[in-house]
Amino acid sequence: MKKPVKVVVTGAAGQIGYSLLFRIGAGDMLGMDQPVDLCMLERNTESSMKAAKGVKMELDDCAFPLLNSITSTPDLKKAFKDAQIALLVGARPRTKDMNRSDLLNANAQIFIEQGRAINNYADRNIKVLVVGNPANTNAYIARKCAPDINPKNFTAMMRLDHNRSLTQLAQKTGCKVTDIEKFCVWGNHGNTMYPDITNTLIAGKKAEDLIPTDWYLDYFIPTVASRGSAIIEARGHSSAASAANAAIDHIHDWVLGTGDKWQTMAVPSNGEYGIPEGLCFGMPVTCNNGDYEVVKGLELTDFEREHILQNVKALEAERAVVDELIAKA
Ligand code: NAI
Repeated sequence: MKKPVKVVVTGAAGQIGYSLLFRIGAGDMLGMDQPVDLCMLERNTESSMKAAKGVKMELDDCAFPLLNSITSTPDLKKAFKDAQIALLVGARPRTKDMNRSDLLNANAQIFIEQGRAINNYADRNIKVLVVGNPANTNAYIARKCAPDINPKNFTAMMRLDHNRSLTQLAQKTGCKVTDIEKFCVWGNHGNTMYPDITNTLIAGKKAEDLIPTDWYLDYFIPTVASRGSAIIEARGHSSAASAANAAIDHIHDWVLGTGDKWQTMAVPSNGEYGIPEGLCFGMPVTCNNGDYEVVKGLELTDFEREHILQNVKALEAERAVVDELIAKA
């Protein structure tokens, strides 16, 4: 049997945590031969700790063979000590009285602290996935506050947007999701995100030849971008099981590989495709040997450039706000 991998999940008593932890325990994320030391980090309040205790009791009751140990703590040092994978799900939700800058501020404090704890205590090769919103900017903050860890290891989740898109495309063309290749969602997990079919093949045929332009522009792009709100409207709560599933997919593929198959990950830009260095940006990647690589050599159309630029602007505006907060912290 392999040595256990230490996985930390923050916000473990929340909605997404409630799906995510059980999938990790079942072996869906790291494979059926990989034991896990699971650590749940929650806020240090009586209600959060009590809820986390209840989730831990249920995890115990599953008797998952791959769960080597389960701990629950509000302590950052204990949680991140030697952690090899961190899923940063816990975040401050937007309440009615908050504007965007209040939201950025509240979350900046969380991700500054967690970034520092990762820097101080985690395994040097830790892989970090930020799910908590605003995910791309929170990942940027955590990375900035962990200067001793490879910046490449701080990613944000855009896999849910990717997966949502695959189903829309499959349903429109009558194909299977597995028939779709070379698709990605560029940019920010926000309303400017750009699901791009320029290079996409569906069952070997060019997607642009199969899909009517008006459907693509007027239905597909806005539907993918507003799917989160549509779920809240229908369910009364934000996406949880599908978000957990996307987090599982993201880490699964990063660790176990995709071969030459594209997936979407939000990763720190190295200046690819004119995206300013350092922004945590959704891009097409392939994963091999526990590492990811941004797909190189794409010739961007004007339409792609324009949509990528909208996302650059959105993320640069957030970066300007949080750079000040990081400098003050
Ligand atoms: P939730 O409100 O049900 O749970 C959040 C949990 O995080 C709570 O248990 C809370 O106590 C905990 N938490 C808050 N601050 C914490 C801290 N500093 N340390 C540890 N735990 C902390 O929220 P839910 O539905 O689980 O969503 C979590 C986040 O994921 C939200 O920010 C949501 O917007 C985001 N999200 C992101 C998606 C994406 O595609 N990137 C998709 C869906 C949700």
